[in-house]
Amino acid sequence: MKIAAIAGSNANHSYNRMLLKFVARHFSDDDVDVIDIRPVPMFNENFKGKIPEVVADIDRRVAGADAVIIASPEYNHSITSALKSLVEWLSYEVHPLQDKPVMIIGASTHDQGSSRSQVQLRDILISPGVNAYIFQNEEFFMSNVKSIMTEDGEITDERTIQFLEKCVREFKRYAKAIDRMVQEKKGAEA
Ligand SMILES: Cc1cc2nc3c(=O)[nH]c(=O)nc-3n(C[C@H](O)[C@H](O)[C@H](O)COP(=O)(O)O)c2cc1C
Repeated sequence: MKIAAIAGSNANHSYNRMLLKFVARHFSDDDVDVIDIRPVPMFNENFKGKIPEVVADIDRRVAGADAVIIASPEYNHSITSALKSLVEWLSYEVHPLQDKPVMIIGASTHDQGSSRSQVQLRDILISPGVNAYIFQNEEFFMSNVKSIMTEDGEITDERTIQFLEKCVREFKRYAKAIDRMVQEKKGAEA
């Protein structure tokens, strides 16, 4: 499956980006494209009719994917400004998340494991203009990430890897079901 994997951090050293790179390495039967949002400028509405090339590139990569995984860090019990800004870009002149199956995961250096940001992101992703389908049957919160991820981005806890495998497996089933439903909807509307 072709998966666009968006890391919601603009830090140079990001556990969430490393988590997605782990996903790309570990699930090598799938084509996982890790999207780095560091170059994305802060959203504003001055770009009527056109968007920055870096956003256009992300638009193409998300639109061309069968499914999307977003690794959402948590700042101040919230999603990061960088990720919110990207979602604003992707719900303005372009709408690549429309009808896309999305799984939210996240890592945090604290106990919270990015849980609040994940819950908040679900609401954001179903807002008008975004209209994604959110996988909610499993929740992957990686708390105290420094204790189970090495500086090379390897996960050292076998149970965490097994749970991640289960989440991705279930998500892929969900994504296929959503794709069938969306195709049927488009057929009915045609
Ligand atoms: C300003 C700030 C606020 C933070 N707030 C939270 C928080 O509310 N919950 C949490 O679990 N971690 C919080 N953290 C810690 C982050 O989980 C940690 O910085 C993490 O590494 C960010 O993800 P990244 O490594 O992918 O950039 C905060 C960090 C910063 C710098």
